[in-house]
Amino acid sequence: MKESQPSAIYLKDYKVPPFLIDKTELTFDLDEATTIVTSRLHMRRNPAFGKSTAPLILDGGEDVKLIGVAMDDYPLPAEEYRISEDKLIITATADEFILTCETLIEPQNNTRLEGLYRSSSMFCTQCEAEGFRHITYYLDRPDVMSVFTTTIIADESRYPVMLSNGNEVERGKTDEGKTLVVWHDPFPKPAYLFALVAGDLAVKNDVFTTQSQRDITLQIFTESHNIDKVDYAMEALKRSMRWDEEAYGREYDLDVFMIVAVDDFNMGAMENKGLNIFNSSCLLASPETTTDDTYLRVEAIVAHEYFHNWSGNRVTCRDWFQLSLKEGFTVFRDQTFSADMHSATVKRVEDVSFLKTAQFAEDAGPMAHPVRPSSFIEISNFYTLTVYEKGAEIVRMIHTLLGAEKFRAGSDLYFDRHDGQAVTCDDFLAAMQDASGVDLSQFKRWYSQAGTPVVIVTDAFDEESGTYRLTMKQDTAATPAQPTKLPLHIPVRVGLLDEQGAALSATVNGIAADDHVLHLTDSEQVFEFTGLTSRPVPSLLRGFSAPVKLRYDYSAADLLLLMSADSDGFNRWSAAQQLAVNELTSLIDQAIKGDDLSIDSQLIHGYKTLLNDASLDPAMVALILALPSQAYLSELANPIYPAAIKQARQYLKTQLAGALSTDFERVYHEHKIQGAYQATAQDIAHRSLKNMALSYWLESGSELAQQTVITQFESADNMTDQFAALSIYVNSISVNSIAVNTQHSKAAELLAAFYEQWQSEPLVVNKWLMLSASQENDNALATVKTLMEHPAFDLKNPNKVRSVLGGFGQSVSGFHKADGSGYQFLADQIILLNKRNPQIASRLCTPLTRWKKLQPELSAKMKAELERILAEDLSKDVYEVVSKSLA
Ligand code: PHE
Ligand code: ZN
Repeated sequence: MKESQPSAIYLKDYKVPPFLIDKTELTFDLDEATTIVTSRLHMRRNPAFGKSTAPLILDGGEDVKLIGVAMDDYPLPAEEYRISEDKLIITATADEFILTCETLIEPQNNTRLEGLYRSSSMFCTQCEAEGFRHITYYLDRPDVMSVFTTTIIADESRYPVMLSNGNEVERGKTDEGKTLVVWHDPFPKPAYLFALVAGDLAVKNDVFTTQSQRDITLQIFTESHNIDKVDYAMEALKRSMRWDEEAYGREYDLDVFMIVAVDDFNMGAMENKGLNIFNSSCLLASPETTTDDTYLRVEAIVAHEYFHNWSGNRVTCRDWFQLSLKEGFTVFRDQTFSADMHSATVKRVEDVSFLKTAQFAEDAGPMAHPVRPSSFIEISNFYTLTVYEKGAEIVRMIHTLLGAEKFRAGSDLYFDRHDGQAVTCDDFLAAMQDASGVDLSQFKRWYSQAGTPVVIVTDAFDEESGTYRLTMKQDTAATPAQPTKLPLHIPVRVGLLDEQGAALSATVNGIAADDHVLHLTDSEQVFEFTGLTSRPVPSLLRGFSAPVKLRYDYSAADLLLLMSADSDGFNRWSAAQQLAVNELTSLIDQAIKGDDLSIDSQLIHGYKTLLNDASLDPAMVALILALPSQAYLSELANPIYPAAIKQARQYLKTQLAGALSTDFERVYHEHKIQGAYQATAQDIAHRSLKNMALSYWLESGSELAQQTVITQFESADNMTDQFAALSIYVNSISVNSIAVNTQHSKAAELLAAFYEQWQSEPLVVNKWLMLSASQENDNALATVKTLMEHPAFDLKNPNKVRSVLGGFGQSVSGFHKADGSGYQFLADQIILLNKRNPQIASRLCTPLTRWKKLQPELSAKMKAELERILAEDLSKDVYEVVSKSLA
């Protein structure tokens, strides 16, 4: 452990910057050994800060070497500046001046992948949140916005493509014969949106004509062997540009929009002004190498980054506590976009499942924080599901409270009022409120209060008056640093059904309708529905109108009715999921007690009906058949018995497979698609149900099913079907329990064949790594250790680390090994990566943060590993997560 530990910074301490930087001129002399960065910063004291003689303090990093500093072109003598803890401090300055800094950096040794680094043979940058300070000394905070001019100097034979933000304004040669390119970005921006790329890249060009008839040049750059995989991203980009004009009235502003794919990247992608940089796994797509879910992900991320041009770049964040201002809003925008492009219900189900599984777990754990956090040690740790996904739910609730039209007016006002500014979540709310007249003062608490509210609903029907009463109570459990909670403004969308499942109109507050938004604002409230003749079945929280845990004691019959008849597609899924959760919860209890497992035949009947209803969207049927995941059931459980959950899921799947095997066989055949691969909602839906049916059919023990899986693996003409066949086989309980998982099993043989076929496609190899690492068998830990020695593995590449260790985390038999060796292995990797790549190391800690909820024997072992990590000399990133987990 270190002598002194890193300290937290607080939102309440925010002060405007003492200095501003009106213009930033950067020159990069790029070279494989050392890169020299020269900055000329046109600075002045900030009038808003008030009269001051405070010294100028610039942010830097331990990897930045200062060569020289000059004030108004006079070199500063050593006594007039000093470097202290990564800061460059200049004692005295005029009110207005030009500061010149020359720094030396070594991008080739940058393993953190923050600042300027190398990926394959190119140079690239990642500056959000505080990466720019690893390039040169700067006021590295988002409320300092500056107009950037960037000169790139490099050897043209190795770096023919040299890119930065904005427009290329000049190209020439230096005296030494190197090439020089100048870029100018007319829009003032914070340093976190700066980007630079240099390399030998191929490009795909296209054009988009905006609503005001301006032609925008679109360019996607990749290494040359990947350029045949960008067509889908290009089309997705054009769809995004059109959609943002239509849905939000937002037009693109520069003359060129560029995207670059890089293989080494900590996150998914980055919205740098005019020059988005993508993890290649979130951009490249081809039918042979990419699965359906990745196609959808590519489209969503291209859209997300593009949408940031307004929600993030034109209007940015005042400070990093406001991160959700841009991320929550932009996730909401990309979710709506995807819903418009495909099936809105399927998209909503996927987003909500993810939220309820992963964000709810975060909100119930030691890292729980409000959507607008009030303190942090390392901001990189706050790119969380809470800030992104719960943040998007908050914006969605505003949309529900205001209605589509007023929401659009609020968004227009927000962009109009704050264009070119760095603002806060309060500013966003104020615009929404001012444009709509809707009072959001209580609603605001959603931003500052952590934890998932529980809403408990009970009901009563008064026969005589035809009145139905819903009583709702809300409660939010304590979270770290927030012991007491206030009631939130929760919009609860409700409809009522009669016994046959028909929608009932009822009157609430004088308004008759078959769908009402109730405003739960007190800790307990009663809502009255009048004009009814018999007791209704309530359809509660339609569309998941608020990110809460809803409790209502539904009978199995109610759930079956909702599942088949509710007009709200989301709640049909939700009812089906609740039925399965109820069944699995009792199976898990039986498994914990060591009893023989058994299920209710009613459930089998429900699934049979589902499989025989041709009117249903095949994608929805597949989502229901997927059964609640191991992770979701873990979120619901307390304490968590991982092996019991696994056993319960496997048992239920096997039972359904056995009872309905002929239905699954039929459904498999019915949903085969003729013709070439297309990533359309319809085709994706058919493939998902077909492959889901195949996985059940195989579980029934049928020889023919086994043959069918192998044939599909061998003859598929697209990665979705091939990889589905492979994973179905590798994950199959029945097949592997017979074959026992030895090196010589058929599963191992298929995995080997797959690697053989795809070894030259890194993104496919990543899928192979993930599947191999997630296997359920007694060798799981040994397997993952072997994988880390495999030539395809590379500790420097975040995608590979995520594949192997992320995959391993899903293997109950590997990760949760009874002797704790799985936890020990993960802790070893975290310690190994701690200094090399703190962001990745910190993210790997997530599964360990759940230790308090685990069954006692495992909990103690997991805790011991956290303690072992804490004893190391830690990066801020890992220190924050581990110390908070143990607190
Ligand atoms: N701002 C990026 C996005 O959400 C995410 C990101 C954060 C990327 C930090 C890199 C580093 O679109
Ligand atoms: Zn984003």
